[in-house]
Amino acid sequence: MKLSEQKLKELMKNKLHQAGLSEDHADGVADVLVHADLRGVHSHGAMRVEYYAERIAKGGINTNPQFSFEKTGPSTALFDGDNGAGHVAAKEAMDEAINMAKKSGIGVVGVKRISHSGSLSYFVQQASEENLIGLSVCQSDPMVVPFGGAEAYYGTNPIAFSAPGEEEDFITFDMATTVQAWGKILHARSKNEAIPEDWAVDENGEATTNPFDVKALMPIAGPKGYGLMMMVDILSGVLLGVPFGNNVSSMYHDLSEGRNLGQLHIVINPSYFTDLTTFKQNISQTMKDLNAVKPAPGFDHVSYPGQRSIERAKRYKENGIEIVDEIYEYLVGDAVHFNNYDHKDPFAK
Ligand code: NAI
Repeated sequence: MKLSEQKLKELMKNKLHQAGLSEDHADGVADVLVHADLRGVHSHGAMRVEYYAERIAKGGINTNPQFSFEKTGPSTALFDGDNGAGHVAAKEAMDEAINMAKKSGIGVVGVKRISHSGSLSYFVQQASEENLIGLSVCQSDPMVVPFGGAEAYYGTNPIAFSAPGEEEDFITFDMATTVQAWGKILHARSKNEAIPEDWAVDENGEATTNPFDVKALMPIAGPKGYGLMMMVDILSGVLLGVPFGNNVSSMYHDLSEGRNLGQLHIVINPSYFTDLTTFKQNISQTMKDLNAVKPAPGFDHVSYPGQRSIERAKRYKENGIEIVDEIYEYLVGDAVHFNNYDHKDPFAK
């Protein structure tokens, strides 16, 4: 099923509003979700609506949160999301970081007590749309082994970065610190296919190629990815005084409880370091240089990070966004949710 960006956003907004979010917050969440689908990050788009709707309906996302913003220094602040919609809180907190970076060269905002905020590229691009550099990291539920460990400790703790080039182009790099998302394991299960041996481990902490034996995911690049996910957890958890490590709340454990997650936005104003026009020209030059690198066998060209998403978004804006039929049926149907997620074991066979 192909839907226009506007239609998809409207359907998602309606469902989230039906579940209990205010119209304003439903619109804010749907905006981040449709951004993900447009970039081809379908794992963080429309497929999440039913989960959010169930959590909203069961009270685990505050439908009337009192956001608070406390400046703690010339360029630092804490934003309390009161366990409301994470997408909306993270977006408002990024606006505050942008304001500070415009005035003082840098803005660092710790966002605490939020629910899942989706695809981080949305927030860092808020900064690059204002000619600033955006960096954002956040916590996610524990499902990854630390290097050498036999049980999960960290989440898939993502890191996102965006810098502005000329003519409204951005370089946007946005990744989970795991080799693969959990969704890819589910996909392999549905096809009864083996997975590569560097994706995940079984109950003994040993690498497995059987998607049904998976008990935890592996960090990217062994100890290096493990170090990065630790850094993310310290910056967005320990630093902000919210639960950290394997105390981070699970996505599915109890949908009636707020998740108390943390996220950190850092915004840097390039004009405090160099000439802005030259900076933007050099970001565009970086894109051109990367595209001009000789491709390796099996590749027809080298893309800069985020380029394929930009191209996909252009295609989707023209031709519509491809949405799985069942998700469309759910979005246009009457049910708020089907009780599919509460207390679900993500690793159950
Ligand atoms: P991914 O593996 O699809 O892409 C990672 C990065 O690599 C992207 O910047 C992409 O542009 C770049 N890339 C991919 N293929 C490329 C190629 N051929 N050439 C050049 N660059 C290329 O992303 P991943 O790790 O699956 O993350 C997906 C999303 O999940 C992200 O938006 C992330 O923020 C989100 N996420 C959110 C979490 C949360 O709790 N809020 C937790 C984990 C992930």
